[in-house]
This record gives sequence, structure tokens and C-alpha cells, in this order.
Amino acid sequence: MNPSKFKQKSKLRDEHAVIILIIVAGVSAYILDVAVDAFVYHYGPFLDVLTSTSPAPFSARLYILASFVVLGIFIHGSLANSRKTEERLSALNFYGGKLNTAKDLQGVYELTVDAMEKTLGFEYATFMVAERSTLKVVCYRGRSEPQLRQLPVDGANGVTVRAMKTGAPILVSDVSKDKEYVAGYPGIGSELAVPVAADDKILGVLNVESSKQGAFSEKDATLLQVLASHAGTAIINLLRRGEIEKRSDQMALLLKSSAEIIHSASLRRRLQTIAEAIRDLGWRRVAISVRDENMEMRSPDDLVTVGLTDEEREHMWNNRPPGNVLREHFGPEYERFRIGEFYYLPWSDPWVRERQRSSSNLVESHLKAEDMIDWDPQDMLYAPLRLADGRIVGRLVMDDPMDGKKPTLESLAPLELFLSQAAVAIENAQLIQQLNDAGAKLEEYADHLEAKVEERTRELKEAQNRLLKSERLAAIGELAGMVGHDLRNPLTGITGAAYYLKNKVGEKTNDKAREMLEIIEKNIAYSNKIINDLLDYSREIKLELVESSPKAVVEEALSLVKIPRNVKVLDLTENEPKVEVDVDKLKRAFVNIIKNAVEAMPKGGRLTIKSKRSTDDCEIAFSDTGTGMTDHMLQNMWSPLYTTKAKGMGFGLPICKRIVEAHGGKIAVETALAKGTTFTVSIPINQPKLEEVCTSVPESSLPTITNECQN
Ligand SMILES: Nc1ncnc2c1ncn2[C@@H]1O[C@H](COP(=O)(O)OP(=O)(O)O)[C@@H](O)[C@H]1O
Ligand SMILES: [Mg+2]
Repeated sequence: MNPSKFKQKSKLRDEHAVIILIIVAGVSAYILDVAVDAFVYHYGPFLDVLTSTSPAPFSARLYILASFVVLGIFIHGSLANSRKTEERLSALNFYGGKLNTAKDLQGVYELTVDAMEKTLGFEYATFMVAERSTLKVVCYRGRSEPQLRQLPVDGANGVTVRAMKTGAPILVSDVSKDKEYVAGYPGIGSELAVPVAADDKILGVLNVESSKQGAFSEKDATLLQVLASHAGTAIINLLRRGEIEKRSDQMALLLKSSAEIIHSASLRRRLQTIAEAIRDLGWRRVAISVRDENMEMRSPDDLVTVGLTDEEREHMWNNRPPGNVLREHFGPEYERFRIGEFYYLPWSDPWVRERQRSSSNLVESHLKAEDMIDWDPQDMLYAPLRLADGRIVGRLVMDDPMDGKKPTLESLAPLELFLSQAAVAIENAQLIQQLNDAGAKLEEYADHLEAKVEERTRELKEAQNRLLKSERLAAIGELAGMVGHDLRNPLTGITGAAYYLKNKVGEKTNDKAREMLEIIEKNIAYSNKIINDLLDYSREIKLELVESSPKAVVEEALSLVKIPRNVKVLDLTENEPKVEVDVDKLKRAFVNIIKNAVEAMPKGGRLTIKSKRSTDDCEIAFSDTGTGMTDHMLQNMWSPLYTTKAKGMGFGLPICKRIVEAHGGKIAVETALAKGTTFTVSIPINQPKLEEVCTSVPESSLPTITNECQN
């Protein structure tokens, strides 16, 4: 058997026993009274002291009997009363259990007012919930419509408001005598209000009213308090469950957005994802900015926002505070506003108000203060995006919390993950940028390198070719020197012999023999020239420098060349600039050039000689109106023994080149077939003091600048 039922039954039995006992006592007293009366009446004034009156009449006896019955009923009544209280209590406990199964807050309210109405038997029952600065009716019984849906807590001190403020039950047996009573529904006699509290917080008020006066007792208040504590616990549990569910949702969201963040490639995209994830965690407006070492944004692209219009974003960018101001926001002055990694600046703080007033970058909140719980639309919440080494690479600003609450360490905890994620995303992007830059530089360098290698290879090939050529030429030069030297002695012999013969035969000889002797002499002279050329080319060049001018050298050279009648020479050279040259050698070079020019104009023409000063050189140009040169001629003219002439030796230009180069100068050629050729000799004005220029053949065989102009 159910023990409580057993208990109830045994109690019932006890109560009946008491009633029977009282009735038995009443009947016994009656019989005793009758007996005593009979005895005193019959046997004298026995017990007269006790009964000063005459024997009691029948009615008096009935009175005694009745009083016993009343006593019995009274005791029964009080017992029944305590039984009823106990019943209500156990029913309340039953409801208490049921409350914990409620799915939502409305369920708790409904069950509670049901318990107030049905179990506790109150006429009008209301559940009111504290919301911001009001008490809001969330559920009621006994009426079709509550008189007031909402009561301001700081307004009139009605019964419910008093219960809310004091946190104690308020019982008013006669509302007409309560000075502060606020009339709601008409015709109310008495009212009882009990606060619903949990975790030291008043969550609401349970209120009962009756049209009768004194309808509620202290016991009712106690019972209602028991119910209120059940309701409070249920509400807190639900809120906690909601909080846990919210947290687990947040965790799921965190995981999801973490994955998204990792997958998105660009920094902006990543920051956008982070900002959106933060919005989904309950912030209507989020801004993330990338900051350099001076805490400055470098471009509008460094600002990523969610929940802001384009204009607002632009406003933020245009009015961005300078980096040093932002750095202060993470400094010691703001330390007291820290919540974990975040900084929360409440508008209620006068110091904050003073500071914020001066900053112009704030974007007006769209929220109304009355929609908030304890967040002020002017409040500020921000955090640094910090790397592991402490460097700040960005800033996160959040605003307009959806729950209207100011942040706590607990509510911000899940967001801290995003701080490091955003910081790492920025760092990665910066590293990638650096890597790309380095890559681009490397690529550029590699391209350059390739070109350089090509150029060098070409140069190397050319140098090699030149080397081969010059080796060959050196051998030729050496041979030429040897041959020239060896031919000198026999030639001297021949010269002497011819001279002897000429003297010996003298006038005796006939014309023919004289003619032959002259041929011998002419050819000796020609051979001599060849030998001199050979020796000139192969000999070392030693310069003897003296100050001279282009005009002086050219005039001397011209005096040595026989100019045919049909060739006109135009000497436009000047006396400036003065140059340090070996006049003899340079003269020989010029003679070669002038001779070549004349030979290139067999049908006549004009040779123009000009001098001019360039930055560092003195330039002397010899322009003829002769045959011009072919490519083949241009390529080979500097090589010894190259000639296109029947009686040419091909040593003229190579010797010229050697002499000019010995002066530190160079020769350039421009030519056009059938139009003419210009040889330009450049001699540096400030001669490097070449005491002795010893050149064997190689240098002189190196090619000089050769320009062609063919029209
Ligand atoms: N002014 C010029 N116009 C045309 N061809 C020239 C001129 N100067 C030189 N040349 C060419 O260059 C060749 C080499 O000249 P050079 O070395 O002086 O030897 P050579 O005069 O003995 O032939 C000449 O044979 C000629 O073909
Ligand atoms: Mg010549």
C-alpha cells in the first residue's frame, strides 16, 4: 500500500477516535451530572460547595452536552484544516515536479497559475515577470482579461510592485485600507503577492486577488511562497538550459565558420567570414580592420564590416582616428575596461563619455535605449587582433547586441577564438604577400639574369672569336715583322747594287737600260714602303705626347698626300680643343685615312674634314664622296692584309687603329654605297698619361665601332 495513503487513513481513524472520545466524554459528563444531581437531591447538601445553585435543569445539562459536541466539532475542524493544508502542500509538490518538465517559460507560467487556481483554490491568479523596469503579466486565471498588462516598477507602489521590490510576500486583507493600493480590476477585497526568486534575483511575482476581504491567510502566503520557489527554480533551469543550448549552437557555429575561414583564400573573404560569424553570435554590427605597425589602415580594403551600409562604412574610413589614438585604446588607461581580451566602454562611465564625445568616427546606433536590457546604444566594445608574439595586426569592433545585454566574460569567451583566427589570417596574408613580392623580385631577377647570361655568352663568344682571330693575326704580325726585317738586308743590298750600276754605266747606257734601272729604283721604294708598313704594324708603339690641335695635325697630314686635281679638299678643322698627342704617329694615321678617301674617289669628288669637341673627346671626321663600302668590306677592313686594291697592302687601317687606340681613342665608320664614307677619329681631351703604349698586334685587331647607313 502507498505509505502516504496509509498515513492518510490512519489519520482519519485517529480523528474519528477523537470525536467518539469527546462524545463519550460528553455523554459521561451528562450521566455523571445527572447522577450527582440525583445524589445531592436525595441525600442532602452533598457538594453544595460546588453547586451553589439548585440542581441543574435539564436544559443546562443539554448545554454541557452541546458544549462538548462543539468542542469535538472544533477539534475536528482544526484537524480537517491541517489535513487540507497538508493536501495542498502535497499537491504543490506534485506541481513542482510537473514544472520541471515544462518545455518553455510559457509552460512554466501556465502550470504555475493552474496550480494557483486549481490546487490552492484562488479566485484570481496572475503570474507577472520582471522585464527591464516593468512587471509584465505573462499568464492569468479567473478573468477574461487582465486589467493591466504591464506595471512600471518605479511607478506606484502597488501590492505586486512592493513584493517585487522587497522580495517578501505582501498580504493585504482589506485593500480599501491600504494607502498605496493601486486599483486594478474593480471589486477587489483582498490581495496577496509573493515574489518569484532564484539565485538571489527576483524574476517575477505571483499575485492572487479575491473579491472578499481577508480571503488570504498567512498559510496561503506560505503555500504561495512554496509554489513561487518551485516556479523560480523551473524558470532558472529553463534559462540555464537555454543558455547551454545557445552555447552549444555557438560552438557548432564556431566549428562551421572555422572551417569556412580556413577554406577561403583571400584575406578580405576570411575577415568577412569571421565578421559574419560574430554577427551570427549575436552582434548586429561588426567591423574588422587590418592595421600596420603604426595602427593605421593602409587602404579602404583594410576595413571589413557587417551590418553597416556602404555610406556608414565610408564614414568610418573617412573619419578613421589616427593610429596613435587607437593604440591608446589598448593602453593602460583603458585597462580597467577589459573583459578578457575585449574592452567594454560603458556610456554610463563619465570618463568614457568625456573621451568618446571627441571622436567623430562613431556610426550612430539604430537601436533605441528602451529596446535594450542593460546595453546602452552608445556603449563600445572592441578588441585587438593580436599575434602570439604580442604584435597587434588588427582591431575588431562590435555593436548592437541582439539580446540587448552588456557583455560578460562568459558571453565573450567564444568570440576570443575569432580574435586569434583573424590575427592569424592577417599574418598569413602578410606572409603570403611578402612571399609573392619576393617571388616577383626573384622572377624579375631571373628574367634579368637570363638576359644577362645571354649577353655574357654572346660577349664571350665574340671575345673567343676575337681571340682566335687575334692569335692568328698576332702570328701574322710576328711573321710580317720577321719577313720585313729579313727583307731589309737584301733590299739594302739591291739598293746599293742599283746605285752602283747607275753610276757605273752612267750616261753610256742606252735609254732602255736607264728605264730598267729606274724601274728597279721604283720597286725598291715600293718594297721599302711595304717593309716599313710591315714593321710599323708589328712594332711596339711608343707615344711621345706633345700639345697640339686637330687643325695642326690635319694640315701636316694633308701636306704629305698628293691630292689629284679632280678631288677637292675642304679643311674645316679648328685649333680647339688642344690635345696631347704623338703628332708624328697621329699624322701617319690621318695620312692613311686621307689616302684611302682619295683612292675611293677615282673619278673625283670632295673630301671634307671637320673637327668638333664632344663631352670628353676631340672628334675629327673625314667624309669622302667615294664608292662607299660593302658589308664584307666593313667587317674585314680592320684586319691586316685585307685590301680591295691591286697595289694595296691592307695595312693602312689596322695601323690607324693601333695608333688611335694607343691614344685611348677610337675610330667609327659610316658608309653608304656610291655615296661615300666618313671615318671619325675620337681622341680623349684629357689623355690618360700613357708613357709607353706597348702593343703587339692583338689590340689593334679588335673591331672598332662600325656604323653603316645605306639608303
Ligand atoms: N674611304 C674609303 N672608301 C671606300 N673604301 C675604303 C675607304 N677606306 C678604306 N677602304 C677599304 O678598306 C680597305 C682596306 O684599307 P687599308 O687598310 O687602308 O688597305 P689598302 O688601302 O692598302 O687597301 C681598302 O682596300 C678599301 O677597300
Ligand atoms: Mg690604305
